[in-house]
Amino acid sequence: MRLAVGQMEPLINDIQKNLLKVKSILKRADENQVDVLVLPELCNSGYVFDSLEEAKTTAEEIPTGSFSRELRSWSKANKLVVAGICEQTRHGLFNSAVAFANGNHITTYRKIHLFLNEKDWFQPGNEEPPVVDFEGTRFGVMICFDWIFPEMARILMLKGAQVILHPANLVLPYCQDAMRIRSIENSVFTATANRIGTERGVAFSGSSQITNTTGKRLTTLPTNEEGLALADIDPHEADDKMITKRNHLVKDRRPDLYGLLTKSD
Ligand code: ACM
Repeated sequence: MRLAVGQMEPLINDIQKNLLKVKSILKRADENQVDVLVLPELCNSGYVFDSLEEAKTTAEEIPTGSFSRELRSWSKANKLVVAGICEQTRHGLFNSAVAFANGNHITTYRKIHLFLNEKDWFQPGNEEPPVVDFEGTRFGVMICFDWIFPEMARILMLKGAQVILHPANLVLPYCQDAMRIRSIENSVFTATANRIGTERGVAFSGSSQITNTTGKRLTTLPTNEEGLALADIDPHEADDKMITKRNHLVKDRRPDLYGLLTKSD
């Protein structure tokens, strides 16, 4: 299975240009026979809004908006794509990741851990992160800052994810390393598609990457260039949860002693 991350610089207030950038990544993904593609968080809209009004003008409904239609159409050729979308709904805006496979809208995950000023524009999602099946492989979805909550990758793995797809607009410098750890502690692949550029003084770190189940980076992009990086993976490597011949990553846990983890404060 050929997995890819697309890296780009979405421009605030330039939806048409952003759509062209997405189309160009989709074209490159086609040329490279990619099966599963991840695009950055908020790839339709840019990130550093200066008002709720501005955020609203860039948002689209899923699955009828122009980005959704483009992604859906790309997925018709037996492909899965997960992309970050500034989503307009009757209940306000959400920072969402939409998944299309085989021409169908599979799921929309609405980010549950909002970072900094995202809390001014977006409603927090209230549903568990999803795991979707595509061609016999199980893919979990989370968005950017979800990385700092190890519970996210853990719940995805416990729900059966073999690969975690992770649209991002990374600001803090630790995520790419932390995702290697998420891979190790859950024995899963991860694919982080990050954005580049500086928007209204906020710098994003690029370095999109794919990690394997032992935390090795299979591929990585530069900090400051748009592009596509791919890796051929065997998702079944994630089925082996033996850490030593006597230690199993799932069965050796002691949830009876982790009660605090499920309390709010
Ligand atoms: C982030 O969650 N976009 C930092």
